[in-house]
Amino acid sequence: MATASRTVLVTGGAGFIGSCYVLSRRAAGERVIILDKLTYSGNLENLASLQNDPEAVFVHGDIGDADLIARLLQSYQPDAIVNFAAESHVDRSILDPDAFIRTNVLGTCTLLRSVLAWWQKLDEIRQQTFRFLHVSTDEVYGTLHLGDPAFSETTAYAPNSPYSASKAASDHFVRAYHETYGLPTLITNCSNNYGPRQFPEKLIPLVILNALARKPLPVYGTGENIRDWLHVEDHCEAIATVLKGAVPGSCYNIGGRSERTNLEVVRGICHVLDELRPYSEGPYASLISFVTDRPGHDFRYAIDASKLERELGWTPKWQFEEGLRQTVQWYLDNAAWVEHVQSGEYRSWLERNYARR
Ligand code: NAD
Ligand code: TYD
Repeated sequence: MATASRTVLVTGGAGFIGSCYVLSRRAAGERVIILDKLTYSGNLENLASLQNDPEAVFVHGDIGDADLIARLLQSYQPDAIVNFAAESHVDRSILDPDAFIRTNVLGTCTLLRSVLAWWQKLDEIRQQTFRFLHVSTDEVYGTLHLGDPAFSETTAYAPNSPYSASKAASDHFVRAYHETYGLPTLITNCSNNYGPRQFPEKLIPLVILNALARKPLPVYGTGENIRDWLHVEDHCEAIATVLKGAVPGSCYNIGGRSERTNLEVVRGICHVLDELRPYSEGPYASLISFVTDRPGHDFRYAIDASKLERELGWTPKWQFEEGLRQTVQWYLDNAAWVEHVQSGEYRSWLERNYARR
């Protein structure tokens, strides 16, 4: 590959979405600096294909470490920063909200402060072309009833979980750094992602792996809650599109127009597995088990991504059922990755979250 023309600093780049973004930007010829704390969900195996790539630099560290950030900015002079680093799981936020305040709120604020101090010393042209893109979620908008219009960029924030409250707070600080100091920030709010390399605490990989282990498939409440699903590659393409074309200070919703009830998603996985890995004792759906609901469980998320489609020409490439099949196949094909992430930490999480349900 030719020498990179652009450098991007990707925080949280060893996680599910961040690693997909890193791989896609390397394929596009950019130099990528990856900063990741390698929490339980950060996994260097996600970046294994870049092991000997001199244009992909991995740095083990925390977005809340101001000295480290200052050194990285000075050394690598990035053209853009994409901030994926976060605690990302709602159920964990219910059991330990403080971790979410530390990384999602305080960490993002420290990152912003360090970036601002560096950016203010750049020459005018580099100040104008630099971008700080903060990756956020549709969950900041709260919950919808059936028939409510989908969330748009002007929907008021109404977060209901400690996770979404911490992401909402970080979004507000990003906005404030643009309005107050002129830092060229962008915010994207995306719906539920799925695809290869997702840590199996989230619904889709959890159900795939439980099914393969013939364990119960835990569906919270009645399974009627609705999420809008987007393939992770479509999310990463949308982020690159926003980074390239959006006006500083703007926000874009990203979604897949693929609303499904949780029960539809779980049955969909069972259906694919029935075909790809038939189970002699009957269909996988017989493992579905309704369990105690999540407290404060948002009923429905739906995203109106028409601003992004209209202004910047992005549309998702994956259709949900096709993407779900590809995802199931990836977990079947990557037994070593699966085995490594099912560590002691993962087993203790299953115990903490599911034993009392
Ligand atoms: P993930 O948990 O798989 O990855 C998070 C990564 O951040 C991990 O590699 C972790 O080690 C790293 N990290 C955590 N704390 C850090 C810190 N203090 N400093 C540096 N690195 C740290 O999560 P994901 O699903 O890839 O989500 C990435 C981002 O996208 C998050 O900001 C999340 O809020 C957002 N998002 C996720 C979804 C989704 O469906 N997964 C949807 C919309 C938005
Ligand atoms: P999850 O993947 O945790 O994402 P989020 O909470 O960010 O939407 O959950 C997706 C949906 O699936 C959500 O409505 C909660 C539900 N769910 C279950 O029914 N069972 C489970 O074991 C998990 C993890 C989630």
